[in-house]
Amino acid sequence: MRVAIIGQGYVGLTIAVGAASAGHSVVGFDVNDGLVAALNSGTSHIEGITNRELAGFVSNGAYTASADATVLDGCEAIVIAVPTPLDKARNPDLSYVHAAADLIAKNVKLPALVINESTSYPGTLRKEIAARISGVEHLYASSPERVDPGNTQWGTKNTPRLIGGLTAEAVAKAKEFYGSFCDTIIEVSSPEVAEAAKIFENTFRQVNIALVNEFAQIADALGISGREVIDAAATKPYGFMEFNPGPGVGGHCIPVDPSYLAHVANEVGVPATFIKRANEVNLAMPAYVVKRVVAGSGGSIKGKKVVVVGVSYKSNVADTRETPAAAVIALLREQGASVTWHDDLVGTWRGESSSAISGADIAVLVTKHDGLDLEAVKACGYVFDCTGTIAGVDGI
Ligand SMILES: NC(=O)c1ccc[n+]([C@@H]2O[C@H](COP(=O)([O-])OP(=O)(O)OC[C@H]3O[C@@H](n4cnc5c(N)ncnc54)[C@H](O)[C@@H]3O)[C@@H](O)[C@H]2O)c1
Repeated sequence: MRVAIIGQGYVGLTIAVGAASAGHSVVGFDVNDGLVAALNSGTSHIEGITNRELAGFVSNGAYTASADATVLDGCEAIVIAVPTPLDKARNPDLSYVHAAADLIAKNVKLPALVINESTSYPGTLRKEIAARISGVEHLYASSPERVDPGNTQWGTKNTPRLIGGLTAEAVAKAKEFYGSFCDTIIEVSSPEVAEAAKIFENTFRQVNIALVNEFAQIADALGISGREVIDAAATKPYGFMEFNPGPGVGGHCIPVDPSYLAHVANEVGVPATFIKRANEVNLAMPAYVVKRVVAGSGGSIKGKKVVVVGVSYKSNVADTRETPAAAVIALLREQGASVTWHDDLVGTWRGESSSAISGADIAVLVTKHDGLDLEAVKACGYVFDCTGTIAGVDGI
């Protein structure tokens, strides 16, 4: 098939490469000219796709990036993979999805299969995409992306893929497309079910992370190790799923997607109380971390040199979107500390560069990447570990 993917970020580029590897002819459309140029020169910007792999598909013609929307016309399948953030009031911001739909309406005159992979609330495909496109009889399907950047065990091929369509023909065509590079396709009865499943999955994670974060605080106050309790509970072979505490949640999904569910819940008059409370607990974790660091450092960190180790939102990725490290650093600075950060994957961030670990009075390990120099962390005067990596030091 000739396939277009709108948006060449984490999701769009991953799908583009998956489709190219299945023999489709793929055009990756993005509004970012610099990104398009880099991709066409074989430079990947995401973990999981190497420059070599991308360059191979560019040179054999299976993949081209483009910032010209006219390339969309004539494609059999058009996949939307654009950001779905929250606005300032933490309500869904569908402006990117609307822009993608409007691009299709304007440029695509031949009927195509239009698939939405962007995460959003139930009703998005039907009301926010298909309803904006008139004059051409496209097929519409929803297949929310479940990719976990940096996960080497589960990827596009072996993660089961949900598909819901507006018509049986759309479902059949979407199954044909995804079946060419995904092992397991699960058809659900409507796009709304597929869309809701995705945000429920992420809400499940958000709520459970909040629960374990709250539990970690209870355990610490009781004078027992929360992590040891969790490990003990996880020996139960059924009815328990292990989640680990941390400094908060980050990335494009867990801090954001549940608010999409809360938004529609509110519209239909059902209060999403778990989501609200989970947001509160997770957002309060950086303050808890800093409170513990201050307490563990003799009651004041004024004038102390603090290095925050690992500023991306999770291990082995360079993604700093919504990272709790930002709040940890801000709160440490509010306490009068002189704060630097170290991250081997994030070279520069917010105009600051990664600094050395050694020489700090206090190290706060927020995110641990493979290959981190743990000895340098341990050599700091006081260590607070948010990752459960270093035995015998303070942490959560
Ligand atoms: N990152 C993840 O781990 C992940 C996992 C599952 C689902 N998702 C969802 O997938 C969607 C995309 O997320 P992402 O992480 O790939 O985002 P991203 O920010 O990495 O990439 C989005 C890309 O879309 C481009 N873009 C924006 N508007 C555009 C337009 N009108 N036309 C063409 N390109 C446009 C941007 O320039 C950017 O390159 C979101 O809904 C997200 O919630 C993300």
